[in-house]
Formats: sequence, C-alpha cells, structure tokens
Amino acid sequence: MSKKGRILTGDRPTGGGKPHLGHYVGSFANRVRLQDEYELFLLVADYHALTTHPSREDVAGLRDSVRQIVMGYLAVGIDPEKATIYRQSDVPTVAELTLLFTMLVTVARVERVPTLKEKMAESGIENPSLGLLSYPVLQAADILHVKADLVPVGKDQESHIEVTREIARRFNTLYGEVFPEPQALIGEVPTLMGIDGRAKMGKSLGNAIYLMDDPETVRQKVMSMYTDPKRIHAHIPGTVEGNPVFQYHDAFNPDKAEVEDLKERYRTGRVGDVEVKKKLVKALNAFLEPIRERYAYYSARPALIDDILAAGADKVRPISKATLDEAREAMGLGALR
Ligand code: TRP
Repeated sequence: MSKKGRILTGDRPTGGGKPHLGHYVGSFANRVRLQDEYELFLLVADYHALTTHPSREDVAGLRDSVRQIVMGYLAVGIDPEKATIYRQSDVPTVAELTLLFTMLVTVARVERVPTLKEKMAESGIENPSLGLLSYPVLQAADILHVKADLVPVGKDQESHIEVTREIARRFNTLYGEVFPEPQALIGEVPTLMGIDGRAKMGKSLGNAIYLMDDPETVRQKVMSMYTDPKRIHAHIPGTVEGNPVFQYHDAFNPDKAEVEDLKERYRTGRVGDVEVKKKLVKALNAFLEPIRERYAYYSARPALIDDILAAGADKVRPISKATLDEAREAMGLGALR
C-alpha cells in the first residue's frame, strides 16, 4: 500500500510513567490509526531524557525505561512491522545534525521557548545546561533527519515544532532546499477526566486507570468513580455532560446503542449509577484485555524488545546518514566518505 507521507513522533523515557487511559486517548489511539496510512517513526528520546536527568542513577535506569515505553507501544497495538521504533541514541548522526542546527538558532530564541521554564521548574533546575537549552534543536534534528512531514504531538510541544520549522527555513535559505517544513498534528481529542472527576487523568493525581490494571482493579476503580453528585437516588435526573462515567463510555464502549440508551435513562432518572458503572467495567475490561495480553507477552520477552529496537535503528541509520550527507553537501562541507 502506498503511504501518504512520513510521520515522526516519540516520547522521553523519564521513567516510572505507566501508561494510562488518558495516554491512550491522547496519543496512542492516534498513532495506532496513523501507522496504516503513513510511514510512522516512533523514537524513544533518551538523549532528551538526559537534558533534565543526567545523574548516574538516572542513566542507569534509562535502558529499562526505554524498554517500558516500547512495551507500551506494542501493547496498545503499534505493529513493529508497520512502524519503525527506535532509540534516539542508537542513531547518533542526529547529534551531528543538532550541532549544525545550533548555528542557525540564537540563544535568545531558545530562551523564549515556554517549555524551558516549565522543565526547569518541574526538575528544580536553576541554571539550565546547554543541553536543556538546546532541547528543541535536538527535537528539530529528530524530525528533520528523517524529513518527516507530520509530527503528532500534544499542545505543549507546538513551540518545538515552530522552532523546527524555523530551522528548516533558515537552513534552506542559507544553503538550498534540503528540509521540508513539517506540520504539527495537534490532537483535537478532549482530555480524559480522572476517575475523581477532575479535568485530567494523571499519575501524580492518583486518579488514573492504567492500561495494565487487572480486571478486578479496573472494577474497583470504576465502581468508586465520581459521577453526578446531585444524584442520590436512581430516579433523580442526572447530568451526562462532564460526567466521567459517560466520557469513558463514549471513549471505550463500542456499543453506541447501549451508551445512548444509558444516557437517555440517566437524564430521565431511569437508571442507577451501579448499572451504568457495571456496563463500563465490562466495556473497559474488554478493551484492555488484548492490551494486557500483548503486554504480558512482551514483558516476558525483553530480548524481543531489544531486537525490535535494533531493527528500528538499522532502518533509520541509513536514512539519517543520507540526510546528513545531503545537508553537508549543501553547506559545502562535503558528504562523509
Ligand atoms: N519532546 C517530546 C516530549 O516531551 C518528545 C520528543 C523528542 C519528540 N523528540 C521528538 C516528539 C520528536 C515529537 C518529535 O513529548
């Protein structure tokens, strides 16, 4: 099948981030969909992890965090036959491209990127390293060394894609057309609420359902979920909008007729919360079952994960090398022999 274009996206392996339903709705679902239509590259950005976590202990945990991320991809249905999954530091030509790009961006420009201050605050950093300052430049190299057309990211990453576009433009103006100007693909999906009814699901908020939660844990979490607090009896009309139980039904219950029926009865006070929740438990566990199975399969086979990463790197290296040669030629440095 001919594909519509090239997509690159990825994640930082900063450790401990078990994937939850919010991640699924926010990014995984989209990636699984895109792998059929586009040539998809998924990178695990371990160099980027170093920008805020460079300590010896951090680095010691990196290899495993990378594997965890990849297992998450495979569990949700990213197919390594369709998508190219690789670890950033396995393709070090990206570092040379980053170096060339640093000449095309001013310090003032990267100091204005809003995520810099955010990362500093999050990680308690007062004086950013050059590495942290050039975070968006490394990201530009990630995107441009495979000449990606589209970059699916969260809203917070928009400023990095803007830097990428500026670098591509500047390079092309100075040395001739080498790089495409990639587009950010910002998800329109509404953020999944927490089980406590707060606006966002998050690990630190303690309101998440994890993709690897077992069926009983899922049941307990759903049965304890926040719903319309005005509804102390099943016959009191309830509100569906902004009610997490229904938001989850919409996102994960494939039986749309059942969901519409539940909503109708909820609005008119003809269904109890328990029934609505029990049906959600069923839908969620059915949705999670294949994810749990694939996760169990891969977590029992860490060597397979390493093989997938090795194959991914083998596939990206020549692409990266060709782009770097082209850039060096355009600049007059000459390609590597
Ligand atoms: N900065 C991204 C994040 O924190 C991760 C990332 C690194 C990335 N390189 C990338 C995303 C290239 C998209 C494209 O989520």
